[in-house]
Amino acid sequence: MLALGSDHGGYSLKEEVKKHLDKRGIAYKDFGAHSEESCDYPRMAQAPCEAVVKGECQLALLFCGTGIGISMAANKIKGIRAAVCSDTFSAKMTRAHNNANVLCMGGRVVGVGLAIELVDAFLDTEFEGERHARRVGQLADLEQKL
Ligand code: RB5
Repeated sequence: MLALGSDHGGYSLKEEVKKHLDKRGIAYKDFGAHSEESCDYPRMAQAPCEAVVKGECQLALLFCGTGIGISMAANKIKGIRAAVCSDTFSAKMTRAHNNANVLCMGGRVVGVGLAIELVDAFLDTEFEGERHARRVGQLADLEQKL
């Protein structure tokens, strides 16, 4: 199960990505936004990220105007490793090396076609573990130091 979330700036791209997930038969829970009415990205990041941390969802896809604000919000939540991507290499590598559990995209930055490629690259790549697991563990250590 995927968790989806956006603010108003990412709403439209989220809706387009949902159509692609439907075609692929990938289940998701949409935590909103449910319209283009203005809302605040830090608040919209919380519920989908909590679903990931609690294990109710395995990964999340988050959207705002740039992808940046909602990624900053997501990364404040313990256990979240969110990456904002606008190229497929990064979307793949952030799963393979960083074990990212949240992909963030900018609805005002990437088009629908590219977003779909980013989502597929992210979802279809496994974490490689080994030396990367040590580094991801060190990310978790940083969370304990603040
Ligand atoms: C909203 O106007 C915009 O600031 C937001 O969607 C996002 O781009 C912030 O990083």
